[in-house]
Amino acid sequence: MAIRRPEVGLLIPIERPWPDVGMATLGVIFLVLVQHSSPLPLRHLLREVVEKVNEYGPFIGVVMAYSAEEEALISSGFFTPNLHVPWVDLSGRRFHIGTISDVDVIYVMSGQRRLNAGITVQILIDVFDVRGIVHYGTAGSANDSMSFGDVSVPKFVAFTGSWNWVKFNTAEGGNLTELSFGTYNLPGGGENRLAEVEFKAEEFYCVNRSMEEVFWLEMDTTWFQIAGRLKDLKLQRCVNETYCLPKSPKVVIGLKGSTADIFVDNAAYRDFLFRKFKVSTVDEESSAVVMTAMSSGVPAMVFRGVSDLAGGGTNWTSTSLSSIAASNSLTVAVEFIRLIGSEKLIGRN
Ligand SMILES: *[C@@H]1O[C@H](CO)[C@@H](O)[C@H](O)[C@H]1NC(C)=O
Ligand SMILES: *[C@@H]1O[C@H](CO)[C@@H](O)[C@H](O)[C@H]1NC(C)=O
Ligand SMILES: *[C@@H]1O[C@H](CO)[C@@H](O)[C@H](O)[C@H]1NC(C)=O
Ligand SMILES: *[C@@H]1O[C@H](CO)[C@@H](O)[C@H](O)[C@H]1NC(C)=O
Ligand SMILES: *[C@@H]1O[C@H](CO)[C@@H](O)[C@H](O)[C@H]1NC(C)=O
Repeated sequence: MAIRRPEVGLLIPIERPWPDVGMATLGVIFLVLVQHSSPLPLRHLLREVVEKVNEYGPFIGVVMAYSAEEEALISSGFFTPNLHVPWVDLSGRRFHIGTISDVDVIYVMSGQRRLNAGITVQILIDVFDVRGIVHYGTAGSANDSMSFGDVSVPKFVAFTGSWNWVKFNTAEGGNLTELSFGTYNLPGGGENRLAEVEFKAEEFYCVNRSMEEVFWLEMDTTWFQIAGRLKDLKLQRCVNETYCLPKSPKVVIGLKGSTADIFVDNAAYRDFLFRKFKVSTVDEESSAVVMTAMSSGVPAMVFRGVSDLAGGGTNWTSTSLSSIAASNSLTVAVEFIRLIGSEKLIGRN
């Protein structure tokens, strides 16, 4: 077995006394400690550090998938690292401890696609005292009414990458949504040995419930209502003095988003997803973040900024569009964190 090399960002020795507290507060901290006393196995080298970190909680877990999205947070200056333990490394991810607008947060870059997103959110929930997950990033737009820089705050997300791949020349005709490849033959539709795929639901395991098959995952009602207040937020329109989007980007609340381990850059498939599932954005992580959080009864919200058109419309993409999309999604996420921070009681107990 490989030797574990846990790391922790410590600007001062762990033994340093923690901020002075009166007797009454001590009692409270003791109770909290008892409640969250063993997030890691007894012999784990970071057990003590994680306990210290959790004294600063509860936190909002902030999750993004890749470096351009993390860069948006770093360059925004919104995040202030904790002076005592600025970060903890677990399973190859760096969990940054600190605040955003005085709200205690732990932010972490998960890596791309479903498995990385799921693993990372599970660690956040199991190890740290987290009361909810905020996920932001870029997305492709599948909806012609959503363009570059717009931010979608979906009410529903689904995983659209789990398929029954059907035999050629059999008419099974279940009631699942089907994608028949022959329909897309050129110059006209016909048969195709790839036949068709049927879109399957996910097995959803959740605390206190028996397994259910679900396709659409719905956001936590309370958190979604709070996000509703963000619809008139002003977003960034210009990358610099000369390069601006043709229209002011907008926040759009309550649409549907789809996730798969697939980067969609194909007009026909984009159109299929919009027509069949009414999804406005496509990405590679959102539904994994939401499902992992929901399994433990933890609320989650998704903020995705449009960085490309998933193969539709124009042919152009650029890093400028990615950065404006990431930064606009971050703007909405940060405003949401502020609102949640002012409603201390919301989230997991
Ligand atoms: C497409 O996006 C617009 C907002 O730009 C929204 O009003 C509309 O409902 C969306 N369409 C669907 C099918 O969700
Ligand atoms: C069709 O859908 C219903 C209700 O969701 C379900 O009970 C039934 O088993 C499905 N039939 C097939 C052939 O998948
Ligand atoms: C503005 O941004 C565009 C796109 O990234 C770039 O091509 C252009 O050089 C920039 N202009 C200035 C003045 O920085
Ligand atoms: C699960 O059930 C227990 C016992 O009824 C309850 O205390 C707990 O709050 C429930 N958890 C969730 C997440 O609903
Ligand atoms: C995209 O580029 C291809 C190849 O350069 C071209 O044939 C096509 O017309 C372009 N599509 C649009 C919508 O501009």
